[in-house]
Amino acid sequence: MKRIFLIGYMGAGKTTVGKLLAAQLGLSFVDLDHYIEGRYHKSVRQIFQEKGEDEFRRIEQILLREVSLFEDILISTGGGSPCFGDNMAFMKEQGTTVYLKVSVEELTNRLEICKGTRPVLKGKTGEELKRFIAESLEIREPYYQQASIIFDAEVMLTEADIQNVVNNLELILKKEN
Ligand code: S3P
Repeated sequence: MKRIFLIGYMGAGKTTVGKLLAAQLGLSFVDLDHYIEGRYHKSVRQIFQEKGEDEFRRIEQILLREVSLFEDILISTGGGSPCFGDNMAFMKEQGTTVYLKVSVEELTNRLEICKGTRPVLKGKTGEELKRFIAESLEIREPYYQQASIIFDAEVMLTEADIQNVVNNLELILKKEN
């Protein structure tokens, strides 16, 4: 039985890499945010707006435990998932944790383009966005660093770059077992 958790900041590539990697490893794939959205019939943004962040974190913690009952699965978590409650310890207990590590500069570039769906980044641009990412990454890094595999996911500009990341992770994860 195999269970892999992909963790990392927003924009690190967890969903993109997760889908491809799961297929290559012959595992099912679940994106935790999408799972939450399916269960609540609302977007993560709506849940934040209507119920607030604390309630989102409560839901996230419960549904993380639910998806972790599945076997032979790769789970892409939300950027905040490992950093609340005992989620990181729980994931480490339940499977292999993989941190996709990306620099503040690169995250800022990626998130400037696709921050619209991320409620925690709402209204932030340019320097303000970069400062926010730097500060929150510093707080989150001690959680992310507990992952059993820490992988440099800085270069993911082209399809070939992404495939390269996926292939390297596949090799590392196959060696693990
Ligand atoms: C969040 C990241 C999002 C989502 C929510 C909160 C965060 O997931 O769970 O908007 O606090 O970092 P992605 O990392 O998939 O964007």
